[in-house]
Amino acid sequence: MTGIAVVGTPGDRRVTMFADACARQGLEEPAVVPWTSVLRGEEIGIEPETLVRIDSPGEDAEADALLRGPGEPSRIGGGARWHAGFVAGAARVGRAVAATPGAVLLADVEDVSVMFDKRRCHARLSAAGVPVPPALAGPVGGYAELRERMDEARWGRVFVKPAHGSSASGIIALHASGRRVRAVTSAELASGELHNSLRLRCYENEPDLAVIVDLLAADGLHVERWFPKASLGGRAIDLRVVVVDGTPTHAVVRAGRGPMTNLHLGGVRGDLGAVTAGLGPRGWERALEICARTAARFPGSLAVGVDLMIGVDWREFAVAEVNAFGDLLPRLEGLPGGGAEGLDTYGAQVRAILARHAPAREGRGRCVT
Ligand SMILES: Nc1ncnc2c1ncn2[C@@H]1O[C@H](COP(=O)(O)OP(=O)(O)O)[C@@H](O)[C@H]1O
Ligand SMILES: [Mg+2]
Repeated sequence: MTGIAVVGTPGDRRVTMFADACARQGLEEPAVVPWTSVLRGEEIGIEPETLVRIDSPGEDAEADALLRGPGEPSRIGGGARWHAGFVAGAARVGRAVAATPGAVLLADVEDVSVMFDKRRCHARLSAAGVPVPPALAGPVGGYAELRERMDEARWGRVFVKPAHGSSASGIIALHASGRRVRAVTSAELASGELHNSLRLRCYENEPDLAVIVDLLAADGLHVERWFPKASLGGRAIDLRVVVVDGTPTHAVVRAGRGPMTNLHLGGVRGDLGAVTAGLGPRGWERALEICARTAARFPGSLAVGVDLMIGVDWREFAVAEVNAFGDLLPRLEGLPGGGAEGLDTYGAQVRAILARHAPAREGRGRCVT
């Protein structure tokens, strides 16, 4: 059996869950290439014939420090540096794979780079006719410019997103009318610094908001019109749909207490049956078709996680973002009829890898750094 190697953080859940999925399908345990070693510039040793998966470094503090520079991991900022370092690291892995006979990279560095830039991701989807909320074009340099551009667009409600953010870090759901503002965010401003917190706060003081937006703008902003989302039981919802090798295989409803639905901010897994019933068979089919079309814009990526919003009318859809590493959904089984019934998101990917690379099954690749 050809070996698989994973670029990740040793011991991290993503790595162990993927390894479990490999074991369940009779594969050897994948070798792990630590992100920290890639980011330190150490040599990347790959055995011939290895299939190389790039995963997220997860919450690893050392990888974070190598990417954003030293500092408190909970701080917000450094997204542009994170992105440049991450893409350079992934590209180095790509070159090492290309230089190894028979080795295959199970990812596309340019796809990953675009998915981690919400401006470029939005532009790629929009150009392909995938429904996305309208966005302000061009750079938004700070709070004053944000308000001017909102006035020009006649938008009173927007989502301000750090271009390279994830996990709702630094995202602001903003309602503004003249000097009256209401900004919901998990960012906490203390002593002129921004930190992520696990609860949503509401800022109504405009000077504070201006400081926050100006701090965030240093790393680039993507600003979208607020898309009013459907709700269930009084909670705004969206869907995370994992698309594996072109097919939407897993979906989870995320129901938030506030305007963001991210699970670590108090969002909970909602009732998928209620959502499919609310959409009706044709609406549900359309939702999955939009996710498949979204994933098709990232053809070099084995799996992507699409954040799909459903409009308050339960008819309209809009893609909030595409996650390169949106597959960490423990214990979630495949959708009925999606072809991955009984498999988790990692199991579905291992099966897809085997289907693509089956002829090379009898090998022995191992990977060490
Ligand atoms: N334009 C929008 N209108 C309404 N809600 C949005 C919009 N964009 C994002 N959201 C909500 O905000 C949350 C985080 O946004 P997302 O773009 O997925 O960023 P992140 O990478 O931080 O998860 C999601 O739960 C989504 O439902
Ligand atoms: Mg998201």
